[in-house]
Amino acid sequence: MKIIIINGSPRENGITANILHIIEKRLINNGVKVHFVDLGKLDISNCSGCCSCYKTGKCYMYDDAEKLSQEIAVSDGIVIGSPTYASNISGILKQFIDRGHFVIEQLLYDKYAVSVSTGENYGSRDTNKILRKLLSYSGAKISGKIIFNTPFNKKIGTDAAIIKYAEKISDKLFYDIKNKRNYFWQKLFHNIIFNMGIKPFVIKKGELYSGVIEKYRRLEIIK
Ligand SMILES: Cc1cc2nc3c(=O)[nH]c(=O)nc-3n(C[C@H](O)[C@H](O)[C@H](O)COP(=O)(O)O)c2cc1C
Repeated sequence: MKIIIINGSPRENGITANILHIIEKRLINNGVKVHFVDLGKLDISNCSGCCSCYKTGKCYMYDDAEKLSQEIAVSDGIVIGSPTYASNISGILKQFIDRGHFVIEQLLYDKYAVSVSTGENYGSRDTNKILRKLLSYSGAKISGKIIFNTPFNKKIGTDAAIIKYAEKISDKLFYDIKNKRNYFWQKLFHNIIFNMGIKPFVIKKGELYSGVIEKYRRLEIIK
């Protein structure tokens, strides 16, 4: 079992990273192979908006975004964490999402996921909702969410409640993957979004989106 944990905060030792490391530790204890990624350390260029990846199946820029996206594609699960910036996800995370082939290419199809958002006052719920929408539209089954508000820079080392909760969510992710848990309502919701929204859009694009159609075939989403 392989799980990728993505810290969308530019701070390696911030609150988001603290929570994600609790999840990481627990997963490793369960025997999971974990790759913890600090997005702030990676070399990720902005999406140039050329749309050529939809035709070729890959970005013309082979930087850390492309490598990470390819690694996510062969993982079993993903944990995405972000601080709240102006009631939204961080800029570096958005930059990766734009480059990461998430929604149209169904990068997370049939994988399991957890969303983590942190904040200080208002907006961390909005941030989490944005993350969950991304996960769900990309085809993932969401095992759980963590929304945590605390003063900036306050270490969570002594906060037993959040540590316990993060460990619980981590275990849930592990057992969901292990038992291939079937989230009926989430699957139904995704089927509606995919079959009524994403798929017809892609098919209509034809040759221009041939790389995407090829990915759907490989994932056995379409014949
Ligand atoms: C540019 C910026 C904007 C922020 N905007 C919000 C906000 O809208 N709502 C909020 O609750 N916290 C906001 N915060 C606080 C952070 O979301 C919060 O402290 C978070 O836990 C930091 O995560 P980190 O320690 O992992 O970097 C903001 C912080 C920064 C630096």
